[in-house]
Amino acid sequence: MSKTITPYNNQQATKKEQVADMFNNISKTYDFLNHFMSLGIDIIWRKKAINELKKDQPKLILDVATGTGDFAFEALKILKPEKIIGVDISRGMLDIAEQKIAKRGLGDKFGVKLGDSEKLPFNDKEFDAVTVAYGVRNFENLEVGLADIHRVLKQGGKAVVLEFSKPKAFPIKQLYNFYFNYITPGIGKLFSKDSRAYSYLPESVAAFPDGKNFVALMDKVGFKNTKQRPLAFGICSIYTGVK
Ligand SMILES: C[S@@+](CC[C@H](N)C(=O)[O-])C[C@H]1O[C@@H](n2cnc3c(N)ncnc32)[C@H](O)[C@@H]1O
Repeated sequence: MSKTITPYNNQQATKKEQVADMFNNISKTYDFLNHFMSLGIDIIWRKKAINELKKDQPKLILDVATGTGDFAFEALKILKPEKIIGVDISRGMLDIAEQKIAKRGLGDKFGVKLGDSEKLPFNDKEFDAVTVAYGVRNFENLEVGLADIHRVLKQGGKAVVLEFSKPKAFPIKQLYNFYFNYITPGIGKLFSKDSRAYSYLPESVAAFPDGKNFVALMDKVGFKNTKQRPLAFGICSIYTGVK
């Protein structure tokens, strides 16, 4: 079995505990660094991913690993559902999401809850759609997490997952590796309280089963009509599947 990549390489704590600690540590600078490091392109990728649900017009959406809520805010803007619920294991990230919800007056549309993707605090078949942006890479047990997402979806409901993937073509692969391995950890060290978070980022992307492997895992837990749509030469991918 391949080695599990964790934020702090701490043998005493599970990956989940370390991931929650890490996001608690970086929650205050997370939004700024996200947009800064991606030169704002993350906003375009989020829009593209949410547009995958446009035809479905979901009424009730679950945003797993919602963090500071940016994917859910985009879904609210584009899809205008009745309600979105965001779950995350990091209280610090959810605190920022709650501040943004209050500031934007969206309390009746978007609510957040502390919760684990591998044991979602919801009944079977509750949601019309489930979204996850940059979350699955951090799951402790990816297959269990995907199976639970499948469980809470209604029959015919759709899951949309946005995640970094590994570009294969020259010179994108080389540029991407250089940027991710040297530039982002450097920027992270300068601006974030937790420099380890931004070296964990490329390590976790490298270890993540992207592309066909991820699609195969979605198939395995029961999703139908699964697809991968690479963005920006494969730097990111949108994965979709239907229950
Ligand atoms: C990179 S952030 C992404 C946040 C947000 N979706 C976005 O697009 O900006 C990853 C988030 O996944 C959360 N996370 C990691 N593992 C999780 C799990 N097992 N269950 C729920 N949330 C998890 C982290 O706490 C963190 O807030």
